[in-house]
Amino acid sequence: MKTLRWWTLLREAEDIRKSIGRQQQSSRRPRRSMEWSLPQSFTERRRSLLSEAVVYGIVLALSSLSAHELPLYRDSARPIAERTDDLLARMTLAEKIGQLTQGVARPGGSEMTASIELIRSGRVGSYILELGLDDPTARNKLQEVAIKESRLGIPLIFGFDTIHGLRTVFPIPLAISCAWDPGLFQELQVIAARESRAAGIDWVFGPLCDLARDPRWGRVAETFGEDPYLASLYVTAGVRGLQGEDLSQPDRVAACLKHFVGYSAAIGGRDYNHTEIPVLAMRNFFLPAFYAGVRAGAATIMTAFNANDGIPSSTNRYLLTQVLRTEWKFSGFVVSDWEAVAETIPWGFAADEGSAAQTALEAGTDMEMVSATYRDTLANQVSAGRISQMIVDQSVRRVLATKFKLGLFERPLAEASAFRSVMLQTDAVNLARTAASRSCVLLKNDGLLPLAKSLKRIAVLGPLADDRDEMLGSWSGHGRATDVVTLAEGIRTKVPETEVEVVSGCPLLEPPPTDGEVLVAETAMTTPISTIDDAVRAASAVDVCILALGEPRAWSGENSSRAHLGLTGRQQDLLEAVAKTGKPIIVVLFCGRPLQLRAVLDQADALLVAWHPGIQAGNAIADLLFGDLAPAGRLTMSFPLDVGQLPLYYNRYRTGKPGVTNYRDLTGDPLFPFGFGLTYTSFAFGPVELSSGKPASASALVTNTGTRDGEEVVQLYIRDTACSEGARPQQELRGFQRVTLRPGESRSVRFELTDEVLGFFSRDGDWRVEPGSFQIWIAPRAETGNPANYEH
Ligand code: BGC
Repeated sequence: MKTLRWWTLLREAEDIRKSIGRQQQSSRRPRRSMEWSLPQSFTERRRSLLSEAVVYGIVLALSSLSAHELPLYRDSARPIAERTDDLLARMTLAEKIGQLTQGVARPGGSEMTASIELIRSGRVGSYILELGLDDPTARNKLQEVAIKESRLGIPLIFGFDTIHGLRTVFPIPLAISCAWDPGLFQELQVIAARESRAAGIDWVFGPLCDLARDPRWGRVAETFGEDPYLASLYVTAGVRGLQGEDLSQPDRVAACLKHFVGYSAAIGGRDYNHTEIPVLAMRNFFLPAFYAGVRAGAATIMTAFNANDGIPSSTNRYLLTQVLRTEWKFSGFVVSDWEAVAETIPWGFAADEGSAAQTALEAGTDMEMVSATYRDTLANQVSAGRISQMIVDQSVRRVLATKFKLGLFERPLAEASAFRSVMLQTDAVNLARTAASRSCVLLKNDGLLPLAKSLKRIAVLGPLADDRDEMLGSWSGHGRATDVVTLAEGIRTKVPETEVEVVSGCPLLEPPPTDGEVLVAETAMTTPISTIDDAVRAASAVDVCILALGEPRAWSGENSSRAHLGLTGRQQDLLEAVAKTGKPIIVVLFCGRPLQLRAVLDQADALLVAWHPGIQAGNAIADLLFGDLAPAGRLTMSFPLDVGQLPLYYNRYRTGKPGVTNYRDLTGDPLFPFGFGLTYTSFAFGPVELSSGKPASASALVTNTGTRDGEEVVQLYIRDTACSEGARPQQELRGFQRVTLRPGESRSVRFELTDEVLGFFSRDGDWRVEPGSFQIWIAPRAETGNPANYEH
């Protein structure tokens, strides 16, 4: 049933793409718009936490106004543009600048006192909700000050990083991208929005649109991998899931596309580093996912920390105004990243706070996060005539319009009594299990998997065998370790008759060497620390060993770049010691990025990458290990052979000397390419056949050559062999379909070669298709198979 639904979704996506393709009459004519389409999917549940009427009454009471005294901006029946103008006309300059200022709401002490004074005087418009609890009471108290005690009663907008679920923690985004199922991601985002809004979060800082090209960069965990097409589909789904059709619904939130733009290309994979992205690469690799998000209606965008070609992102007028506003017609508001406006000073771009504020605002950054250069300098600069009042008004208008759209004037408070029942509902927990199993990627299987449920004794070894906290991954929202099902627990539940011995063997991290070279992050260990010898003893007495290895969750995410990508601590020693027992070994890998796995593969009979899978980790993995489900994930980031190859991604450019660009001491090829993933059966791909027509199409016969039912992700890649605008990459993903086949069954899988499939973005942002030769692959992964030559 599930399979059928996925299949239907992909069909719908294809249909939409086709209909768009049909509307494009000429393939030669450049055009300004292009969309990699997603289906409108899913019956989206709406929960009414408070009825409009009741809330309206509360707001009126709070404002001590009766209906006939309502100022226009409070009248929800009036159009938002009118309400915004009316409110703007009543505001002082200081109040306007307050709307462009975002603080951090943290519990307790003098910080909160300061916040309350700022709110009362209208000098802050938004908070990052770092109050720690999912109970919205504290948030509501701040909001009450804003609506009752500030002059105009403008509600605050509260933002938070709900990156892969709030209380129901799902797999990290990189993991979910490996499901190659944007529809599934949309479902997760619906839950994330429901829990967030109930917790008083009006605005979610996601989805991430950054392209992951270098696994040393810790934030690849938050991305949808290295391909702009796939990322665009996920971002579209993510925005739809969070925002729905109507932001004012009590279970929806405003989305925030981030980080605009190029942040992930940090040189050397070092977080916050500068970037060097030229225009054509910016247009074709780094901008498309943002463009998709804007087309999906994202309410806001966040600037990035990087400076590209010397220009800090929050001050990049070309990108923030020319591209975003003029070309893409983005009408929401732009918030800086955390202190990114003030950071233009240490970057060596702005001379002081005044010029930081001026360049950022004039470039198109509407709201400043955490630093206060707007609050501290804009009023004087406007009064002195250095900055036009119109620019301030324009930004304030955008912020106010978003607050109106969210219904914050009508429903400023989250219902404190309801939030508990909204968290961790059964549908959410079930979805967390499905998402975790769909995200896993099987990289090796020498026939050991799936395991028989009749096994007498199993050892579950390694520091992550029974760890709750580590399963949550980076940015784990309000997730709690107590909600997590560990791998050992999942296995025990799956095979209650089997004797399951659990030994950690070694910690995830060893104490730092005395020279201080390695930074050790704190990790919560729920398994008692034992020794490698203990693990070996346990291994010797069982039929199969499952080793739960990886990297700490604190070593992925923001400010968590790594120079080495092997297993941390003494896990490799543990693996090798256990392997010497000669027992069959399955490695289950928990990580936030591609790791360097050669040495692991040498010892393992099977290797399953589970990423950081969220609260249902153990159940989902047990479903796969014992064959109740088959692995269906495919990599969305290449796994390198060696760190020396980085950055490494499949959609790289060719060179003028194919074959001689590799190293003297290593191939330039990855260990596992983009798109790779095994399952419990095997597939054969026939040659690519072309059919003429308008548009032409390509198809290939895919056959299940194994002995079990199985699901394949059939991938369409193109190469534009000669492009006058500038060379195109060696391969680009432009379509995929999931097929489920019985043993021996074949199916012809067909893709239309529309303009959307064949085109590229020019330097000035037009979507172009040039006549000429293309190579077309229909394959199970990138960098494999024989292409057909297509003349367009
Ligand atoms: C991160 C953003 C995040 C923001 C607010 C920054 O450090 O780069 O991704 O949304 O903090 O938490």
